[in-house]
Amino acid sequence: MENPFRPSFGAVPVALAGRSFALDSFEHALEDHPGSEQRSTLISGARGTGKTVLLTEMEMIAQDQGWEVLRLHTAAPSLAGELRELVLERLREVDPEASDLRISGGGIASIGSVRTERVDRYAGEMTTATALARLAELAGGSGGGLLLSVDEVQSVDLDELAGVTQLYQDLVRTGRPVAFVGAGIRSGIEALLGKDKATFLRRAHRVELGTVDLGTAAETIRLTVAGTAKRIGPEAAVLAGEISCGYPYLIQYVGAQAFENSADAEEIALEDVARTRGSAIRQMHMNVHGPALRGIAPGKLAYLEAMLEDDGPSSTAEIGRRLGRDHGYQSVYRRRLIEEDLIEPAGRGYVRFSLPYLRDSLLLRRQEHPGPDSPPDVTVRRTRSRSQEARRR
Ligand SMILES: Nc1ncnc2c1ncn2[C@@H]1O[C@H](COP(=O)(O)OP(=O)(O)OP(=O)(O)O)[C@@H](O)[C@H]1O
Ligand SMILES: [Mg+2]
Repeated sequence: MENPFRPSFGAVPVALAGRSFALDSFEHALEDHPGSEQRSTLISGARGTGKTVLLTEMEMIAQDQGWEVLRLHTAAPSLAGELRELVLERLREVDPEASDLRISGGGIASIGSVRTERVDRYAGEMTTATALARLAELAGGSGGGLLLSVDEVQSVDLDELAGVTQLYQDLVRTGRPVAFVGAGIRSGIEALLGKDKATFLRRAHRVELGTVDLGTAAETIRLTVAGTAKRIGPEAAVLAGEISCGYPYLIQYVGAQAFENSADAEEIALEDVARTRGSAIRQMHMNVHGPALRGIAPGKLAYLEAMLEDDGPSSTAEIGRRLGRDHGYQSVYRRRLIEEDLIEPAGRGYVRFSLPYLRDSLLLRRQEHPGPDSPPDVTVRRTRSRSQEARRR
């Protein structure tokens, strides 16, 4: 039986936990509300919170309403160049006037053998601005418009992005039906917004994604299973929600593992769910925390490790004491770690880890990196296997 969960980045799940408010207001904004703020939206959040999925859903909503969607890929060498290619390509497909009929060959005398050939109007001279305006108008004619979307905004070259947003703003200014959605890692977006050239993004409507509540996570898992021949009881669904911590990536991962653990059984049992906790922790370590902790500055790591002594939120004053540092030092690292989505404020004078299982990941990391007590690994020696081989010969 096919596993209905989608535990991979960018994969749209069967059932969406939360996000209805953002999707409904975006849909409303597209329906004949040109001035509405949500027509320029910026989605931000930590890794694995569902930014790409939300962006994709918004694109689907737009398409269903007859909008043209151009998604720009930040990996393209030039964002503006890619936009130009995409819009021309799309126009060639949808514009009834994309090509002019030109009569060639023969001439009047040989009327029987007149050949017509289509000449591409968009081959050379049309500017990107004109092409975008044309596509927006065509889509607008049938009640839609033109949506530009960019994922991983934090990795975009700022000059390229400024060029694209300038084109977009010109379309807004001239009353064309257009919308823009960008998505990216929160820390990267904050850094980007500080730059002069990002004025447009600063004014965009912000959608901040995080974890969903545990009940919603449990219901998402239940609903996903309900679409298959299997069942999951309320207790097992609640436990799955708890293990997922409401973190979107884990909702899919825990669901997928529990589904698999149940093998041929008709029902996913409590035990099938309970067994997912260990692999969820390892999975988070490999895919989310491991990469974030790799190459982390020693000062930040020391701060995180100082938090390990507490079971719940840590007192920042106490962390300062543990580190043997003053308040100023502590607060600099506190701020940096919050910016990187590793910790978050938990009431006045307290912080906690912001994504699930970071504590476990730090502990796993300690085992992998045995710390300063073990002798430095700096020797070079000949291997026994090769010397034995040499002796035999
Ligand atoms: N609202 C949701 N409900 C349930 N599962 C979700 C939801 N949003 C995303 N997911 C799942 O979470 C995982 C991560 O989603 P996605 O790739 O959109 O995250 P992201 O924020 O774009 O991550 P990254 O920062 O790596 O780009 C996927 O497995 C996806 O199916
Ligand atoms: Mg993504």
